[in-house]
Amino acid sequence: MNKLTVGHIKLKNNILLAPMAGLTDLPLRRLAKQGGAGLVYTEMVSAKALVYGDEKTKKLLTILDEERPVAAQIFGGDIRSMSEAAKIVRDIGADILDVNFGCPVRKIAKAGAGAKLLANEKLVSKILELVVKSVEIPITIKIRIGLLPGQNVAPEIIKIAQECGIKMVAVHARPASQGHSGAPDLNAFAQACNGAKIPIIGNGGIVDEETALAFLETPNCSGIMIGRGAVGNYSIFKRLEEFFKTGVKVPPAPKKEKVKWLKQHALYSTEFYGEKKGIVLMRKVARYYVKDTPNAAKIREKINSITTLEDFNELIKTI
Ligand SMILES: Cc1cc2nc3c(=O)[nH]c(=O)nc-3n(C[C@H](O)[C@H](O)[C@H](O)COP(=O)(O)O)c2cc1C
Repeated sequence: MNKLTVGHIKLKNNILLAPMAGLTDLPLRRLAKQGGAGLVYTEMVSAKALVYGDEKTKKLLTILDEERPVAAQIFGGDIRSMSEAAKIVRDIGADILDVNFGCPVRKIAKAGAGAKLLANEKLVSKILELVVKSVEIPITIKIRIGLLPGQNVAPEIIKIAQECGIKMVAVHARPASQGHSGAPDLNAFAQACNGAKIPIIGNGGIVDEETALAFLETPNCSGIMIGRGAVGNYSIFKRLEEFFKTGVKVPPAPKKEKVKWLKQHALYSTEFYGEKKGIVLMRKVARYYVKDTPNAAKIREKINSITTLEDFNELIKTI
């Protein structure tokens, strides 16, 4: 297994937690770190909102030492605010700044940000040049393979990124039009890795040893990034690390352990947001924990009516 270095930052492995809005907040990142993630990412935050001093946005970038190294992700299409936001991220104490060029959501595209920028190489280059000049911390980017199926803009964007001084590129190997479903395009990913001089990380549909290997066996692929497959399944990082070191498959975590994480997650969430908001936010994330349980729909329904940590813990006992 390769040791991965991002600028001056040495990661303990090359298995990363993907940034996910509404999911990879501080409580989830703490658990992913405990599960062995080599690097965790914050949710994406709006560069403009950061610059305007929006408190809610700033809270999304709360970082604890125990989760380091942490990459904070920003999105935006306005060069000035991206540069100013980069300084704010540095001052908050993020180890790495990541720029989002992969989000396909309409609202983000309308703001001229996320995956939409992949169609404007000049603007990508301008944003990256200025952001790199603005701060000393390593800058990374996360991109899509392209906007539409069959399109592969990644090699060109990676070239631009290298020229601008970007230290790592994570490639979500699904076209933006595909959202988060369907198979990753591994051929296009191989083309993206070919000749790259900075670490290229593969992402999309990784849930086990086979799906991880499909990326890692690509020549010049430096690591993998796991999104939904890690939620409620934090030992996936240590399991895969062990597999890449020894070739031995470690069985997935038993249900008992998942229930323990869910309980811990609710505790972290209520600590961080206060009881009411913390439990409301658990509704969305709990779905990932119970999705393989036979009575998942019923449990989800019950979770949606719960407002206190005590009731949440009572419900967990019945799972
Ligand atoms: C709910 C959700 C929120 C996401 N939010 C972000 C985000 O804030 N920034 C980003 O770069 N990607 C975001 N993504 C994309 C993920 O980082 C990842 O690329 C995608 O889920 C594919 O990986 P997976 O198949 O392992 O889940 C999000 C995905 C999901 C499902």
